[in-house]
Amino acid sequence: KEVIEKIKNDPTSPFWASTDDEISKRVNGLLKPGTNQFSNEWHNFEPEMSADHFYEFMVWHRGLAIPRARNLNDARVQQGKKVFMEIGCASCHRPSWKTGSDNYWTPNMIAGKKLPRYANQTIYPYSDMMQHKLYMANDIHGSWCRTTPLWGRGLAAINGSGVERLHDCRARNEVEAIMWHAYSKNSHAYNSALKFYNLSKADRDAVVMFLRSI
Ligand code: HEC
Repeated sequence: KEVIEKIKNDPTSPFWASTDDEISKRVNGLLKPGTNQFSNEWHNFEPEMSADHFYEFMVWHRGLAIPRARNLNDARVQQGKKVFMEIGCASCHRPSWKTGSDNYWTPNMIAGKKLPRYANQTIYPYSDMMQHKLYMANDIHGSWCRTTPLWGRGLAAINGSGVERLHDCRARNEVEAIMWHAYSKNSHAYNSALKFYNLSKADRDAVVMFLRSI
């Protein structure tokens, strides 16, 4: 009702019509995923980007790399990495993968041109790319959540993207994020996070330093 009222008072809206019924028909029609946004009976939008520009954008986007790791020669970072491996973090936050043939399908909207392929790359995402259950309070869809790739996240504090962690930003820093892994004894990461909890302060700090270096 509120939405319809707003649209009614805005004749420039693509959803505008003279009756409530017609407005809801337009909203439903235009927002339906199957509707062609450029050719339909309600409102034809103008494309904001040509197919050639979209292609260039995609080339740039596909070529983007993650930032390189930092301070890897620091003894405490090395100690943090060693502990990270020993206490089982790496069983989910898997350090390295070799990618496959990169045989993706090329959709028509990128001007029919082929995008660059990056086959057989060795990457260091620190994730198994799988979903696990951490059983945190107020969790999402049955608690399933994908292991967050940790690469690049260490720069959060200096690149301005926000230091909050976990899918809903509930953790204010790395240690809080790790302790949420042990919120429930059923958590698939419980043992690993408990080991983190029982580390010396120096080793916990070293793990955090390692997380900030990748
Ligand atoms: C059972 C698999 C598993 C294990 C073991 C595990 N994690 Fe995680 N980790 C996850 C999942 C899943 C998430 C994402 C949870 C979410 O966002 O709700 C996550 C998220 C994180 C995050 C937050 C990332 C971000 O930027 O939001 C950090 C930091 C982290 N893990 C560190 C660790 C450390 C350190 C250990 C070892 C003590 C560890 N994890 C062990 C599965 C695991």
